[in-house]
Amino acid sequence: MHLVPTLIHALTTATLAAAVTPTRRSLPLSLNPTPQDLSNVTTGVSMRAPQALTNAKRLALGLPLLRPHRRITAPPTSSPLPPVPQRCNIRAVGTDNTDFGYLSPLWNGFGEYGMFQASPDGALELAFSYSPGSPSQISITAANGPSAMYSFFGAIVGFASTSNDFGLGSYHYAYLGGTTQTAAGAPPSSDGDNSFSAATGISKDIESAIWSYDPVTHALTAQWVNTDGAAPATHIVYANDSNKALAITGDVVAFQDTFGAPYPELLFTCVPPTPVTTTY
Ligand SMILES: *[C@@H]1O[C@H](CO)[C@@H](O)[C@H](O)[C@H]1NC(C)=O
Ligand SMILES: *[C@@H]1O[C@H](CO)[C@@H](O)[C@H](O)[C@H]1NC(C)=O
Repeated sequence: MHLVPTLIHALTTATLAAAVTPTRRSLPLSLNPTPQDLSNVTTGVSMRAPQALTNAKRLALGLPLLRPHRRITAPPTSSPLPPVPQRCNIRAVGTDNTDFGYLSPLWNGFGEYGMFQASPDGALELAFSYSPGSPSQISITAANGPSAMYSFFGAIVGFASTSNDFGLGSYHYAYLGGTTQTAAGAPPSSDGDNSFSAATGISKDIESAIWSYDPVTHALTAQWVNTDGAAPATHIVYANDSNKALAITGDVVAFQDTFGAPYPELLFTCVPPTPVTTTY
């Protein structure tokens, strides 16, 4: 007997929401594009195997053409100690100690990481090498990520950011998603293909060499590089609502205020994956 009133309530609420939404054009901003922003490119496409739009397809859709590809090659590093290979799953804990579990090898419909699972089995597995003397500016690959085309666990400038620079008092952010590789210490690259741009058709700059690893605590922290080469304080945040998106920002409070949600700040730990043992 509750079904009918509930249904009517749901329909009324939906109708009201639809009627009200267009007037809410000011703050809070939207972390991700809405369908109207996508210039005829469909959202919610399966991100298990994203395809970059070809220029021919982009032309047909009336989208700007992609710049021709230039490979970025990292400058040779003269490290006194040999690099150490490391593999890990990501365990995420809030700064308030909320345990989010392990990051899953999945993207949301916008090509962003942000799904978690309780077990390390089948969790996202990262691979990288670090110089013991300076374990920073590391690019990390996702060994079992959603797409080999964007195999780096990197950062993609946020849709609502008005520049590529982070800083105190600024909500500017970058999603954690699949990217190509950019050079250590380099500012945001407009050259990089990435999972967000493939999903939305919206071109955004990327950085892959954002990670620092502490071999003692196993903490994995992010460091964004601004367009002028500066290294602003960088925090990992989780848009834990329907966005289900991980991002990095220079100011957690400005980020929360801008998007109107108590998005928690997260700390990542690199947990070595349990070796696969065959029990038969
Ligand atoms: C693309 O979007 C425009 C404006 O939103 C719309 O008029 C047009 O019909 C759309 N084209 C396709 C192919 O969906
Ligand atoms: C997101 O996390 C914050 C902080 O832990 C919490 O207050 C909020 O309820 C969460 N939001 C959702 C939608 O789960």
